[in-house]
Amino acid sequence: MHRSEKVWLLLSFGMIIGFMLITGYQAFALGMGPPSHEERIDPQKVDETAPFDRPGITKIGENEYEVVMTLQIFSFTPNQIEVPAGSTVHFTLTSKDVVHGFQVADTNINAMVMPGYVQKISQKFEKPGEYLVLCNEYCGAGHQMMATTITVK
Ligand code: CUA
Repeated sequence: MHRSEKVWLLLSFGMIIGFMLITGYQAFALGMGPPSHEERIDPQKVDETAPFDRPGITKIGENEYEVVMTLQIFSFTPNQIEVPAGSTVHFTLTSKDVVHGFQVADTNINAMVMPGYVQKISQKFEKPGEYLVLCNEYCGAGHQMMATTITVK
């Protein structure tokens, strides 16, 4: 084998080992993981499990609201949300059946909502208007009809 071939082989293996060590160090020593909020729920018992036994919107502070929402084919519960402009809304979401999406137009909200997991995401709504909420994960024959709105007054 040519000498420079050996050098390059060694270098590329060295880099692979190096990257694996860095990733391993971050995952195990620093405890870094995907930025998901890991909280589990039995998808068969969503209706009986707090807080999803009472989906809805609650005022939890000055300009602060909590929305507990379930997603199911092919709807969002609750499907009408209204908050005053300038409100921060904390969403707690789960799916009762298959994987759905939770995307809110004109915001940075774009979450995957999986059965068995609780998804949390917060957003401040500054501008009044009707915000379109869409499911952006294909979830079945009625997927394209799965939408609702958030009204900011
Ligand atoms: Cu729910 Cu697509």
